[in-house]
Order: sequence, then structure tokens, then C-alpha cells
Amino acid sequence: MSLAERAGLAALHRVDPETAHGLALRAVRLGLAGGGGPVTSSRLRCQVAGLALPNPVGLAAGFDKNAVALAPLSRAGFGFVEVGAATPLPQPGNPRPRLFRLTEDRAAINRFGFNNEGMQAIAARLARRPKDAVIGLNLGANKTSSDRAGDFAKVLAGCGAHLDFATVNVSSPNTEKLRDLQGKAALAALLAGVMQTRAALPTPVPVFLKIAPDLSEAEVDEIAEVADAAGIDAIIATNTTLSRDGLKSRHRDQAGGLSGAPLFEKSTRVLAQLHRATGGNIPLIGVGGIASAEDAYAKIKAGASAVQLYTALVFGGLSLVREIATGLDQLLTRDGFVNVAEAVGQGREAWL
Ligand code: FNR
Repeated sequence: MSLAERAGLAALHRVDPETAHGLALRAVRLGLAGGGGPVTSSRLRCQVAGLALPNPVGLAAGFDKNAVALAPLSRAGFGFVEVGAATPLPQPGNPRPRLFRLTEDRAAINRFGFNNEGMQAIAARLARRPKDAVIGLNLGANKTSSDRAGDFAKVLAGCGAHLDFATVNVSSPNTEKLRDLQGKAALAALLAGVMQTRAALPTPVPVFLKIAPDLSEAEVDEIAEVADAAGIDAIIATNTTLSRDGLKSRHRDQAGGLSGAPLFEKSTRVLAQLHRATGGNIPLIGVGGIASAEDAYAKIKAGASAVQLYTALVFGGLSLVREIATGLDQLLTRDGFVNVAEAVGQGREAWL
């Protein structure tokens, strides 16, 4: 991390987290986050659900909810970028404060509740996106919608023409009852609607499903079965957790989803279970608590074809992205893997 980035982060950590996030996003838009394009090498290049990624390290949903920083984020070193969540109609989300920094735990708790400017505004920005990057959108549902399941298809219909992939997010803990859509029958019906909408796009894009970490093994097996039957292209594991195990920070009892270091183990276990349940037939994207190249490598060995991160950037800055991608290249070299794909799932049993 450069001295300037260290000073910038220290200043941001002295203000309220949501204000700090807004300032960080503004700095990224002004080009202060550094550029240079994606880190890549023959070892890091990979194919995930038909997408050619320069490296397997992606930005997780929620950092750029309204797709306002597509160009600078595409140059920040990531192999792919997911923006959103977008809902059909704009909505304000939950009252503030709704984002908490748990510094001692290297974690965050958020209960934003899908605050976003709505799919129309987001589609307009996506239409002007850089074409040489891999960009996806996290699909969400409006809180007051009478047809939440239908909302996912609506956002895909509205934005799909400008996307490389779309993610069905039924795993946010901050919209009441949203996670109920992960149940077998509800999920199958929801995904059928989304896949129908996908087929009607000018160019059908891969559809990913993002799941919660707070699932039993039986529930993970069921989701794998439904995702396979629906023809889902990849599964993202995982979203934030409702668990509060082992936290020290004073904000630990805030309501919302916990992300960052304390989520690492739980989300990696679900990832490994999912890899076993899918027999490696559906690509998996590992998310939750990644803060180093070693963490990213552990997710890949547990079964992930690619990874994403968010919370560690709050503590480590955007320079962490390059550090993780180049460090991953070195770890693969050290262990004699010719590419990322060779390492996927090689350490799965340790997590089961
Ligand atoms: C998120 N996350 C998230 N996920 C999602 O699918 N849609 C969303 O809109 C959001 N919004 C969001 C906001 C904030 C403030 C945070 C911290 C997280 C979850 C995120 O994409 C990721 O799955 C988890 O945060 C776990 O990864 P990290 O943060 O531990 O690397």
C-alpha cells in the first residue's frame, strides 16, 4: 500500500462508514484509485461459465450499487466486476445508520436493504460501460413488490443487453423473507422465470445464483440440485452471514449481514459442500472474507473457479486487488499448477 493510500484510508476511517464509502467511491471515479488494467498471465487467465477472465479475482456486489464507477473499477486490477444490486424501482433502503465497521474483527455489518437508483438509471450507465471488461449485475427485488420473484426477471430484461453476466441474489439478509426464495419450490419457479427472460435477450448472458452461508448441508444439496435443473451457469458462495460468532468489536450486535474475515471459514465450508454437491459440474465463485492471496488460493482449492471480495478493500484499499492477483500467480507457480483451473477443488476435503 502506498503512503497516499494509507493516509486516505486513515482519513476515511475517521468518518461514518457510509459517508466514507461515498467518499471512496468518489475517489475511485476521480481516478485516485490507480489504474493499469487487470492483472493477467497465462496462469491467471481462466474461463468461467463461458466468460474469458484475465484473472479470477472479482469485485463483489454492493460496492458500486448504482454502476457509477464502471470504467475506473474495470482498470483497478480485477478480472471481473459485479455491480448492483439493482431492483426494478428505485428505493431508499433502510434508515441510517446501516453500515458498521468492525475494525478489530476486520469485518463489517450492513443492513442497507437494497438501496439503489433502480434499473432504469443503472441500465443507462451500463449502456456506456467499457466494452473490454467483464461486467455483471446483481439482481434484487423491491421491498414492497407484490411479485418479488418476478422482480429478478424484470431487472434482467431491463439491463441484460449491457451485461456479461447477471446474478440472482436471493441471499441478502436485509430484505425480510428474501432468503425464503432459496427454498426448493420457490427457487425453481423463480429461476425458471429468469431463464425464460434470459432466452429472450438479444444475446443470452450467463446467469449466476448467489447463496447465503447460513444453510444446512441438506439445503446446500437441494440448491445444487435446483440450480443444475434450471441450467444455472455458476453459483456464488456466499453472501453475508447472520452469525455473530467470535466477534470482539462494539458493533457486533448490530442487525444485518456480517462480512469480512469472520465469514471466511463459514463461507469456504459452504463452497466446499457445494463443490461436492455439484460434482464440479457447475462453476463456483468463492466469496467471503478474502483479504490475501492465500485466502483467494484457499477458496480456489476448496472448489472455486473464481473469487470475489469487498470488505477487505475497506481495510486494505484497492491496491489489495493487484497484490492478491499477483500473489495468487506466485502461489500457483510454487505448487506447480499451470493455471487456475488445475487447482480448483484440490483441497476440498479439508473443508468438509
Ligand atoms: C454487500 N453484499 C452484497 N451482496 C449482494 O449480492 N448484493 C448486494 O447488494 C450486496 N451489498 C453489500 C453491501 C455491503 C456494504 C457489503 C459489505 C456487502 C455482499 C458481498 O457481495 C459479499 O458477498 C460479502 O460481503 C462477503 O464478501 P467479503 O465482503 O467478506 O469479501
